[in-house]
Amino acid sequence: ASVEPSRCNGCGDCARVCPFLAITLAPRGGVGKLALIDTLLCTGCGNCVSACPVKAVQVSSATDEAIKAQMRAALSNHPISQSPHHLIFACEWSGYAAAEIAGKLRLDYPANTRIIRVNCTGRLQPGLLLKALELGAASAMVLGCAPGVCHYEQGNEHAAAVFDQAHTLGNLMGFEERLHLKWIAADDGEGFARTVKEFVERRKTADG
Ligand code: FES
Repeated sequence: ASVEPSRCNGCGDCARVCPFLAITLAPRGGVGKLALIDTLLCTGCGNCVSACPVKAVQVSSATDEAIKAQMRAALSNHPISQSPHHLIFACEWSGYAAAEIAGKLRLDYPANTRIIRVNCTGRLQPGLLLKALELGAASAMVLGCAPGVCHYEQGNEHAAAVFDQAHTLGNLMGFEERLHLKWIAADDGEGFARTVKEFVERRKTADG
């Protein structure tokens, strides 16, 4: 991760969520503070990105713009016959790993779903989840590591808090119950296929 000094307001939210204590606050020219990232400790999980209220932190391999571009591509590449489309934000250590097992086992799950792979669900922020719905996704699901086993320590706890905010905002914006959060084990290919089927079916029923 890296910090854009001109944006950083020294609030320290990034340092508070960093699971690896890679961020410290340093005095900035006598006025205020500036977040500094120790690149030897940073793992690039992205929890700091989603915590930053002024978008001063980014992870170069997974910027907001890169994730939005993936969403646009995922939503535009669907054949009309497969609409409506559903997006799954899967952390690579559980949700994505389970999806790969489902694929290897040739397990059946709805074709109108697309996976956006993220380092950790803690990388996501409300704006990104709501963007998926604004871009036309019928619904969006976050699939991450179960409590206590997030590869990045408390990343999934951070994700749960972010999800609650996004869920509340989404309901206020008219996207009632279109966001879902689920924990899954990395080796649970069957659980992945079942969860995705239920997720899509529930939406289909709600949309009539
Ligand atoms: Fe899977 Fe954090 S690494 S949720």
